[in-house]
Formats: sequence, C-alpha cells, structure tokens
Amino acid sequence: MAQSRYWTLMPEWLVYPIALLPAAHLLWGAVSNTLGPDPLKVLENGLGEWALRVLIAGLAITPIMRFLRINLIKYRRAIGLVAFIYVILHLSVYLVLDKQLDWAAIGADIVKRPYITIGMAAFVMLVPLAATSNKWSVRKLGSAAWRRLHRLVYVIAVFGAIHYLLLVKAWPPEPIIYLLIIVALLAVRLVRPQRRLRTAS
Ligand code: HEM
Repeated sequence: MAQSRYWTLMPEWLVYPIALLPAAHLLWGAVSNTLGPDPLKVLENGLGEWALRVLIAGLAITPIMRFLRINLIKYRRAIGLVAFIYVILHLSVYLVLDKQLDWAAIGADIVKRPYITIGMAAFVMLVPLAATSNKWSVRKLGSAAWRRLHRLVYVIAVFGAIHYLLLVKAWPPEPIIYLLIIVALLAVRLVRPQRRLRTAS
C-alpha cells in the first residue's frame, strides 16, 4: 500500500477541527441569528444530519482500505469521537432548547414517538463505544471483545438512518439515500477481498 502513505500525512488531531467546522458554523449561525425563521430546527436538524454523515465516514474507512487500498485507519477513532460529539450536541439542542428540560415531555416523546425512541437507543449504544475509544480499553477488554463491542456502530448507523426516515412526513430522498449508503457499506464487508489486510476489521 505504498500510495497510502500520502493519505496519512495529516496528523490525527486535525480531524477534530476539520470535522467540527460544520458544528461551529451552525452554532455561530444560531448565536448570530442567521439561521432563518426557524433557527432551532435548522440547528437541531443540521447537527443530526452531520452526526449521520460522520458516522457514515467512519463506516467507510474499512471498505476504502480493502478495496481502494488507502489506509485511513489512524483517523477512525477521531472520526468516531467526532460523530459522538455531534450526537451529544444534537441531543443537547433537543433537551435544552427544544424541550427546555421538561423531563415529563421528554419521557413522553421517548415512549410515544418511535423516531425519538430509536434516536435515543442509538445514543445509548454510542456511549460505551465513545467510552472505550482509547488504547487502555482495548488492552483491558482484549482486542477481540473490543472489536465485537465496536460492531455496535453498524446498528447505531442503521438506527440513525431509520430515525431520520421515521421523522420525515413525505418521502424525501435524503434519508433513503443515507440508509442505502449505510446498507451498502455494511454489505461490502461481507465481500472477501483477494488479499485481506491485517488491520481491517
Ligand atoms: C446516532 C444518533 C442520532 C443520529 C445519527 C440522528 C440524526 C438525525 C437526523 C439526520 C435528523 C434529521 C435532519 C434533517 O431533517 O435534516 C435528526 C432530527 C432530529 N433528531 Fe436526531 N439523531 C440521533 C439521535 C437523536 C436523539 C438521541 C434525539 C433525542 C432524543 C434526537 C432527536 C431529534 C429531533 C427532535 C430531530 C428533529 C425532528 C424535527 O424536525 O422535528 N436525535 N436526527
């Protein structure tokens, strides 16, 4: 994988400022009141959509490595943590700005609105993944158990897309496209490449 060296010149930490630029842009728009007539929805939906995009970027790392032979594995942990940050921001906007910490209304939403139930389930599953995204946890759990646990990200991504699909009223193409991309990224994992790379999981 000689050509992959050029792709890894960027230090891992740079993933954070780059991938969080859309969040900064949205938050700045909210503060400066330039998000249009319904800033809350633009902020909430924008952060949710970026959470899904970054989750998809994380899922794409292994297929890119296997089929294009470009090794971006060193960025995967940072991408996963950025996805978690987007979900936390998205959830915070919902809890604080949308529901104003009205726990009864939030509880009712979780029970009565399937898209909130599924979004919440995705969030709950993301927590242990974020908490174990460090070298110490890999050592403590053992790499086989750690990898098994982190396969939860497949379910989380599918739940994220279903969450989006359930909340839209008509049938706009975006949630369907996201779901198809996720299914494709999961399906290609079942294809065995001719020469397996040791770092792929
Ligand atoms: C992995 C977790 C999650 C992902 C990937 C995600 C993703 C998304 C996406 C893509 C949208 C629609 C964006 C658009 O219309 O452009 C959205 C909207 C929304 N999400 Fe999430 N979400 C997640 C978790 C949650 C959680 C935990 C909650 C709250 C309990 C939540 C509450 C909402 C709400 C209230 C909306 C806006 C619905 C509306 O327009 O009325 N989401 N989310």
